[in-house]
Amino acid sequence: MGLAYFEINGGPRLRGTVRISGAKNAALPIMAASLMCEGEVILHDVPPVSDVTFLAELLSKLGVEVEWRPDGALRLVARDEMNCRAEYDIVRKMRASICVLGPLLAKRHRAQVSMPGGCAIGDRPVNLHLRAMQLLGADIELVNGDIVAKTKKLHGSEMFLGGPFGSTVLGTANAMMAATLAEGLTVIEMAACEPEVVDLANFLNKCGASITGQGTPRIVIEGVKELHGCEYRIIPDRIEAGTFMVASAITNGELTLENCRLDHLMAFVDRLTAIGVNVERSERGVTVSSARRLEPVDVTTQPFPGFPTDLQAQIMALLCLADGNSIITEKVFPDRFLHVAELSRMGAHLRKEGPTVIVQGVKRLIAAPVMASDLRASAALVLAGLAARGTTRVNRIYHIERGYVRIDEKLRAVGADIQRREGDES
Ligand code: EPZ
Repeated sequence: MGLAYFEINGGPRLRGTVRISGAKNAALPIMAASLMCEGEVILHDVPPVSDVTFLAELLSKLGVEVEWRPDGALRLVARDEMNCRAEYDIVRKMRASICVLGPLLAKRHRAQVSMPGGCAIGDRPVNLHLRAMQLLGADIELVNGDIVAKTKKLHGSEMFLGGPFGSTVLGTANAMMAATLAEGLTVIEMAACEPEVVDLANFLNKCGASITGQGTPRIVIEGVKELHGCEYRIIPDRIEAGTFMVASAITNGELTLENCRLDHLMAFVDRLTAIGVNVERSERGVTVSSARRLEPVDVTTQPFPGFPTDLQAQIMALLCLADGNSIITEKVFPDRFLHVAELSRMGAHLRKEGPTVIVQGVKRLIAAPVMASDLRASAALVLAGLAARGTTRVNRIYHIERGYVRIDEKLRAVGADIQRREGDES
């Protein structure tokens, strides 16, 4: 893991056009689903970020031939079904590795996946994933920190997948994938409605699955005997789009985003508009510009279609510069506030009370060396750096490179003064 960092000179107003990449969180489960397909899967717009590289590595250990084609498409062909084990070494690097559990169990009838630990954004239990697999007919044991799941044959089931913080995105993905090859009918109640879950269902249907209700809290899956491969384009990354919208607003700029789906960003755009940011659909894409004065607003994160937790840190960076007090409440990951201390180092006035942060707007942010702690917190620090007076150094940017495609290059192309440098943290 290199110790690269970003150096950002704040101030320039961003102007121009940015193409939004394919969604990392849609690509990961779709890549995992290739374990279940007979024949070739060709995926367009898979973002070349390090989480995708980690999963590609895991899939190749699990017997999938993985190839980046010269045209940028990712080609996956499941060849060898011998190895069914996702080891700690890789799961520790990327929690989303849990999404191989459903496909392995459905296709190979056994799976051994290291139990994911906690991570920077809090406890991340997988009890709902395991409950889903058990209801579909798997026996599950925990052996030396590994989830060991076996079945003679999966069968359809009715299941409720709600937890204390609402629905589960990857839990729904795992259940839906496993149910695709189970015998009979499965009904998932309180299914996650996120666009990434819809994208996975659409991909599976294109491979021959029979799934209805995706995008609603009730998904119905009629099991099929086998899945074939297909060619598929991943949806645009709504979180990257939201991050660039804030980049435009926080620099009083004007950015046009190509490959951006506003219907995936309704709650976010609602809050941006209330802050005073203009978001307009144009022929070329979505144009975001901002008035100088930012109004304070209250934000509560919720499962889709509510305000996404993955944009909470970024909107906090923007609200640090609003004209008054805002309240941000985190209802998906109540401990996801590591950016608070780092933003405070840049002169933000923030007070955390349990799952809520009170943001008292300040006139300006001041550059400082800060440390990235998780993917979205890091994005918030880059955004704050774009607006801050002076040179901000964001350390440990390997976090940001897990999920953003060349964010420094994309920002530089629209006028930001940002450089990626290698070095130590001194
Ligand atoms: C997905 O994680 C995303 N990851 C996360 O994005 C995102 O923050 C999250 O959904 C919420 O939108 C990927 O898609 C790869 P959850 P996931 O299960 O599916 C609780 C990013 O920055 N829960 O929907 O793991 C859980 O603790 C990442 O790109 C249980 O209680 O999240 C949380 O409070 C970070 N039991 C809530 O549900 C379970 O078995 C929602 O988590 C599973 C989850």
